[in-house]
Amino acid sequence: MKIGIIGAGNIGGNLTRRLTALGHDVSVANSRGPHTLAELAAETGATPVTAAEAARGAEVVVVTVPLKAVPDLPSGLFAEAAPGAAVIDTGNYYPKERDGRIAAIEAGLPESRWTEQHLGHPVVKAFNGTYAQDILERPLPAGHPKRIAVPVAGDDEAAKETVRRLIDELGFDTVDAGGIDESWRQQPATPVYGLRAGAEAVAKALAEASRERPAAFTA
Ligand SMILES: NC(=O)c1ccc[n+]([C@@H]2O[C@H](COP(=O)([O-])OP(=O)(O)OC[C@H]3O[C@@H](n4cnc5c(N)ncnc54)[C@H](OP(=O)(O)O)[C@@H]3O)[C@@H](O)[C@H]2O)c1
Repeated sequence: MKIGIIGAGNIGGNLTRRLTALGHDVSVANSRGPHTLAELAAETGATPVTAAEAARGAEVVVVTVPLKAVPDLPSGLFAEAAPGAAVIDTGNYYPKERDGRIAAIEAGLPESRWTEQHLGHPVVKAFNGTYAQDILERPLPAGHPKRIAVPVAGDDEAAKETVRRLIDELGFDTVDAGGIDESWRQQPATPVYGLRAGAEAVAKALAEASRERPAAFTA
């Protein structure tokens, strides 16, 4: 598949490594420009591009920048993406450490709903609670008893299915976590966030989530 990755940090870098290893055609962007991605490109064979170019022709686009940077992304980002492109949002809101106060999220808007409003494109929330190193170190074949499951939320069922198939290819099970209105169940500080467990435990953790945002995650 043709895949665009916007953000080349912990998560974006490791997804670039694994998706190129699987044979996908990956373009990757950061904020400082393609010339700063030469090392990652040489290591993986990915094509370094600008953020504005990353989605061009892509069937899957991964947006994996700090949440506060989402409004800075170029407008019309997905205008030239493949029709029906799936956009994966890995983002989390860390008001105290990184992102500053975002009133709409504090008032209860799911983080991914806020992100998709800024992107102007539906998103599929995935990998937001996965340790970046696990993407490299913990893939396992389907059926393995220790295979980790990743919750996946999204309103576009076809896009969600595309993302779930890709995650399976990456070596993880998935659990359908519902639509974006339900995606608070996998936000920071919920039971599933950072949980390294199989599908059954992930589904249980999603069901046990509380909408209450702990003080450490508010501003
Ligand atoms: N780290 C984890 O284990 C982990 C796990 C799950 C989810 N997440 C979430 O996933 C998101 C990304 O996390 P991360 O740890 O990968 O972040 P990170 O290591 O800080 O990397 C962020 C990347 O985004 C790029 N970026 C920032 N602003 C940009 C812009 N305006 N246009 C294009 N690229 C831009 C940065 O480029 P420059 O370096 O050029 O500025 C950098 O490549 C966050 O919301 C985080 O909470 C992280």
